[in-house]
Amino acid sequence: MLRANSIYWVKPDEDWANLSESMPCLSPAEAAKSKSYRSDLNRRNFVIGRTLLRLLVGQLLGFDATQVEFSIGPNGKPHHVDRFGFEWPFFNVSHTPGLIIIALSTESVIGIDAEHVAGGRYFELYDHVLSVREKIQICALEPSLQPRAFLRVWTRKEALLKAAGFGITQELSEFDVSVGDSSRILPVLRHDGQIYLSQFAVRDVSIVDSHLTSIACSHDASHFEVKALTLAVLGM
Ligand SMILES: CC(C)(COP(=O)(O)OP(=O)(O)OC[C@H]1O[C@@H](n2cnc3c(N)ncnc32)[C@H](O)[C@@H]1OP(=O)(O)O)[C@@H](O)C(=O)NCCC(=O)NCCS
Repeated sequence: MLRANSIYWVKPDEDWANLSESMPCLSPAEAAKSKSYRSDLNRRNFVIGRTLLRLLVGQLLGFDATQVEFSIGPNGKPHHVDRFGFEWPFFNVSHTPGLIIIALSTESVIGIDAEHVAGGRYFELYDHVLSVREKIQICALEPSLQPRAFLRVWTRKEALLKAAGFGITQELSEFDVSVGDSSRILPVLRHDGQIYLSQFAVRDVSIVDSHLTSIACSHDASHFEVKALTLAVLGM
């Protein structure tokens, strides 16, 4: 049974790849997009993610997965528009090696981002991703804590920009999020007056130890249930 606000995740393994191949439901545009990937891994993640998204949205709307129609926003954000012209239900997807996440909401515009916790130190990305305030706070941490704190800020910022539909067309270093290791709702401060992100709340989500995940949503109080996606959830 689908819930109002849910975050579903899968490890994109052979079983999910086989399931996606066994029920081709992508639109011609999606099939063409899948063929444009140079990396087999990225192609597979896209096909699995989009198939599961179609199945979930279809189940919520009582449609077959093939009948679900997505529109694409100006910066590439896919969304579903109902027959009255309203964007509904809301969803957002993130895929990284080893993890696909689909966030679904009946009440909030959402953005979700996951990053793999790799062994890097990320110094070379600090100026690109961090505001001056964030950089000072992260550099004041013990060196061993810095990579995780940096990735936290990165996922929070990407989730916000994905909720707003901007994607990374906006400079990540031009706005602030909280740096602390906390999953409470975080204040977002604007620096430049051009981007408007303060209507979103962002919080961290615990899914798997290998990845950090954040979700941004337009309703502060939205509670999201985190669930591993199974065939039973998909009604199969
Ligand atoms: C959105 C964006 C931040 C994704 O970054 P990423 O870390 O590589 O990827 P993630 O796995 O977290 O997210 C990808 C998903 O986000 C969604 N998405 C795409 N564009 C989006 C946007 N502007 N806002 C929110 N979500 C978006 C899609 O569902 C996509 O999955 P799909 O390829 O299966 O459709 C990045 O692609 C971006 O900045 N795009 C906007 C700029 C751009 O390239 N525009 C060109 C297209 S018009």
